[in-house]
Amino acid sequence: MLLLTTTLGLEGAVSREVKNLGYKIQDSLTGRVLIDAGYHDIPFFNINIRSAERILYVVGMFKAQNFNELYENIKSLDFSFMPKKPFVRVAKVKTVNSKLHSVRSIQSISMKALVDKFKYVDGNVPYIFHIYARSDNFIVAVDTTGKNGLHLRGYRKKYSRAPLRETIAAALLILSRYTGKLPFYDPFCGSGTIPVEAYLIAKNIPPNLKRSFTSENWPDLGKIYRFERKKAADVIKGSKPEIFCSDIDDEILAVCKENTERAGASVKVFKRDFKQARAWTDVGTIVSNPPYGKRIEDSVWKDMNVLFNSFPGWSINLISPKRNIQKLMKVSPDKTTPFLNSGVKVYFLQFFKRCKAN
Ligand SMILES: C[S@@+](CC[C@H](N)C(=O)[O-])C[C@H]1O[C@@H](n2cnc3c(N)ncnc32)[C@H](O)[C@@H]1O
Repeated sequence: MLLLTTTLGLEGAVSREVKNLGYKIQDSLTGRVLIDAGYHDIPFFNINIRSAERILYVVGMFKAQNFNELYENIKSLDFSFMPKKPFVRVAKVKTVNSKLHSVRSIQSISMKALVDKFKYVDGNVPYIFHIYARSDNFIVAVDTTGKNGLHLRGYRKKYSRAPLRETIAAALLILSRYTGKLPFYDPFCGSGTIPVEAYLIAKNIPPNLKRSFTSENWPDLGKIYRFERKKAADVIKGSKPEIFCSDIDDEILAVCKENTERAGASVKVFKRDFKQARAWTDVGTIVSNPPYGKRIEDSVWKDMNVLFNSFPGWSINLISPKRNIQKLMKVSPDKTTPFLNSGVKVYFLQFFKRCKAN
């Protein structure tokens, strides 16, 4: 099985994407989605998944209520997929509602089991373990992605003041059901993360086709990575999606243009106050991350009705700092998804029933 780590609150987007890719969900946990996929699917997921943060390979699952059980269970797992002289570390431990609740002790006992198992833990090929316990049920998994999470696609070298993670942008686009068929617009584009991810979705371009992963040197996986890269490159669409984005700030627009060009994304970037923006077609999709200050009443949100009136028939999807922002906007969202953006709880508000395409 594979364990996909996610932004807290966006597990639903990852599950939907996994299903769209033709795989089954085993379990959806807080910040993690367990899926029915094996060792040989690792390259496919690292290259193709848009909304997950990391791909972990599940080495084993067991119940343990004391350190002896933890040690013995880890030692008896099947590590035959690893070389004889791996570099092994336990990097992350999370324990919830379990008899074993000391993170440090779980980490050191697990590391001891691995050292005793391998007799050698300082090789060239890294195997970084994550250990999760929930109600005494343990998952021992090893990171296949590497030092940089999957959000680091490589196209964004410069940022706006409040950039959105690429994986979050992709997750929100998936929740909005954007596929590339309808025109797309981001009226608060900042450094351009949402429009670039929209372009990658519309063209069926794998988000991480060009970067490398820690598991490329693992036994058997090198040739599968080469195969999956070629297979993914072969199904990129020749379509020309209509993707527009704007911002009010000249400096950030220059950064946005650099980022879209680096990503090879054909996106029309222009300067506009969102209050002046007008729909150019009857239907389309807006996914956007408006700014918010300390006092919401002083921010752009007090004028957000202008956007709704200027884009009748469009699906509008916005990240909001408050759940009840509609009191200010006088329209109620059709769906609200809370999630953590850089450690801050925000709400993805979706207004899709107004969309003529639905
Ligand atoms: C939270 S940031 C967007 C970040 C973006 N998603 C990214 O990943 O970089 C909000 C953006 O709204 C822009 N903005 C503020 N007031 C605006 C207005 N009246 N019209 C259009 N854009 C505005 C800011 O310049 C800022 O770049």
